[in-house]
Amino acid sequence: MTVENHPYHPNDALREYLSKYGIVIEAWYPLGHGDASLRNEPVFAKLAEKYGKSPVQVILRWHIQKGNSIIPGSKSPAHLADNLDIFDFALTDDEMAEIAKLAEPGKTYYTADESVYEKYLSIPDDFDVQEAKYQEELKAEILAASDEYWKAQFDLDVEQLRRVCDPKAPFVHMGITMDRGAEEEAIAQRHIVTVKRDDKHVDVRVIDDEIAIVLRQLELTALVGGNEAINPFVATETYHRQTDGSWKLISFVYTHIMPENYQFRFLSK
Ligand SMILES: NC(=O)c1ccc[n+]([C@@H]2O[C@H](COP(=O)([O-])OP(=O)(O)OC[C@H]3O[C@@H](n4cnc5c(N)ncnc54)[C@H](OP(=O)(O)O)[C@@H]3O)[C@@H](O)[C@H]2O)c1
Repeated sequence: MTVENHPYHPNDALREYLSKYGIVIEAWYPLGHGDASLRNEPVFAKLAEKYGKSPVQVILRWHIQKGNSIIPGSKSPAHLADNLDIFDFALTDDEMAEIAKLAEPGKTYYTADESVYEKYLSIPDDFDVQEAKYQEELKAEILAASDEYWKAQFDLDVEQLRRVCDPKAPFVHMGITMDRGAEEEAIAQRHIVTVKRDDKHVDVRVIDDEIAIVLRQLELTALVGGNEAINPFVATETYHRQTDGSWKLISFVYTHIMPENYQFRFLSK
């Protein structure tokens, strides 16, 4: 938990409470926001001399022994190096107790006023609402990736197909399984020309924010060998989230729907 923490404001009660939940304090203003009067406290000069360190290094060592996580701010490369060099000495219990005497209730560098609380309270959505919005946005993103794939099918656009499909993606057309190269060839040769997609039902499932499955029941109008055919299918499209956040198709399966199963059915136990 990020909260103001330094020898003037060690917040020991909060640390003890958080420790029950395995939470540590990440010190906000670990060096008192650069306040010289903190680092010039005589106790730090004395301990700095004893250990051959600087007063700031002693303060940072105090944080480590308190169990705090620290990210001291510095614009100086020399200070940054010094701030890492604090693991070859240890303060004794008596020295920690001496530093504890610097604590003063309410001696903080930042105080939240009413306007800060008001800002927090005015955040309109609770977590569930935010999560639901996120899931909606995620689904919209995946359906946009799906539209890009279908665009390649409709436009017979091999370049577009390459952009939106993983090179290892299999394409299963009612039992005929093709790799991406064969799919490109089928498109380029116009073996099947997709004319119209009439969606009856679309279902998007996301697994671990990484994999998305689009189950789409549709009626497809296509030219096969020059003849127009209209058939009911379930298209199962699987997408994988890339490191840049975009989605790529990693598998496409057309399943022809038997007439008796014409209504979309998803069986689960
Ligand atoms: N969550 C938030 O809203 C929030 C807000 C504020 C701060 N913080 C966090 O608090 C941390 C730091 O904040 P801060 O920079 O304001 O305060 P700070 O770390 O308490 O103090 C930084 C000051 O200490 C000096 N300093 C650093 N190392 C030194 C060294 N070895 N010897 C002498 N002086 C040294 C720096 O000067 P030099 O540049 O000269 O080294 C700078 O003036 C960051 O992790 C920051 O992200 C968070």
